[in-house]
Amino acid sequence: MDKLLLKSGPRLTGEIAISGAKNAALPILCAALLSPEPLRLTNVPRLNDIATMQRLLRDMGVAIAADGADVTLDGNDLSNPVASYERVKTMRAAILVLGPLLARCGEARVSLPGGCAIGARPVDQHIKGLQAMGAEITVEQGYIHAKASRLKGARICTDMVTVTGTENLMMAACLADGETIIENAAREPEVVDLANCLVSMGARISGAGTDVIRIHGVARLHGATHSVMPDRIETGTYLCAAAITGGDVRLRKTSAAYLDAVIDKLMDAGCDITIERDAIRLKAPPRLKAVSLRTAPYPAFPTDMQAQFMAINCVAEGVATIRETIFENRFMHVNELMRLGANIQIEGSNAIVRGVERLEGATVMATDLRASASLIIAGLVAEGETLIDRIYHLDRGYERIEEKLAQLGAEVRRVS
Ligand code: UD1
Repeated sequence: MDKLLLKSGPRLTGEIAISGAKNAALPILCAALLSPEPLRLTNVPRLNDIATMQRLLRDMGVAIAADGADVTLDGNDLSNPVASYERVKTMRAAILVLGPLLARCGEARVSLPGGCAIGARPVDQHIKGLQAMGAEITVEQGYIHAKASRLKGARICTDMVTVTGTENLMMAACLADGETIIENAAREPEVVDLANCLVSMGARISGAGTDVIRIHGVARLHGATHSVMPDRIETGTYLCAAAITGGDVRLRKTSAAYLDAVIDKLMDAGCDITIERDAIRLKAPPRLKAVSLRTAPYPAFPTDMQAQFMAINCVAEGVATIRETIFENRFMHVNELMRLGANIQIEGSNAIVRGVERLEGATVMATDLRASASLIIAGLVAEGETLIDRIYHLDRGYERIEEKLAQLGAEVRRVS
């Protein structure tokens, strides 16, 4: 199993390009299930989760041709509306095939998902929404069986804001009979990117990016070309990595437009940030100031950046309180950061981080995708060597992470 070895020292400087967004690409790949014509995508990140999703779609009969970041999917021969446990167990986002499969094939059999162990993460809202659209759904032996000769438009209000739930229902509604209204919809930029792709395939969607999305069902969707948006979480992760080292970096092929909450906190921490049309430059002070935060659905501070900010607070000046409101078990990085010498106290869904002067390298274990990123960030300044075990989590969500870090001057090496 691969590990990552980091040596502390260098300030991160220089430029890198940000990849396409994993969390936009995953639902957009599933949009190919909705049409018999080819969907051509550009800026698709090369990640394990993307490869898993492509394997899953191939199992169902989707023909896929990939050339680097360009991927063409052809759903003409879609024949097997089944997502097996073997495919789904490592990636919760596989649930995103449920809505489009049901809408296009009239049935679907999808294993209940696995993925990051960051909480219970049920899919009841996906099921409730599809039932409101007339689907008959049973859950047996770990599989969701859904049937509907044609889905019907419905008014759906989800109990909580759910990103993939909103995406699944929006995709299903594209081919439903009549109008669907999703209330309490997720406003995440990735939902908007998916909606833009669906609209270019002929869907009739309005309100994406607000908490009420309206979809007028159409009889069929056609082929289209779409470029996946930049990854705002990858962008935020490299900004934190540069910030903790007192660095000066420029991130290209990205946009500050979706990162207000993150950029505000980095500025509160003392960083100087310059925003260009498709780039962000960050210059950090020698020592950051502690910044408190509370995670919440977009446009508030993203839960996917919580662990990275925990890491920068570990060595910042002062005390920060970090409140996690989305997932109930998303502090697994805390014990690992404490192995590096961090001073963190957990009280329910709050973590109180008291900044220390220095961290010390140790062997630590990656527990989930963003937790792994927080260990890298801490490892960049932990004196001596930090060895991060179980980095397969990182390969699920960060494209060529050690290469990009090395390009910015980090001393990092993958070891088997
Ligand atoms: C997506 C992102 C993930 C991010 C998360 C929150 C993708 C592929 N993944 O995950 O990176 O951390 O949004 O921004 O886009 N919930 C239920 N029932 C449901 C659905 C959700 O109780 O049917 C709960 C979850 O347990 C969680 C909260 O709602 O507590 C939000 O989850 P959700 O937005 O659905 O997360 P994902 O879409 O899985």
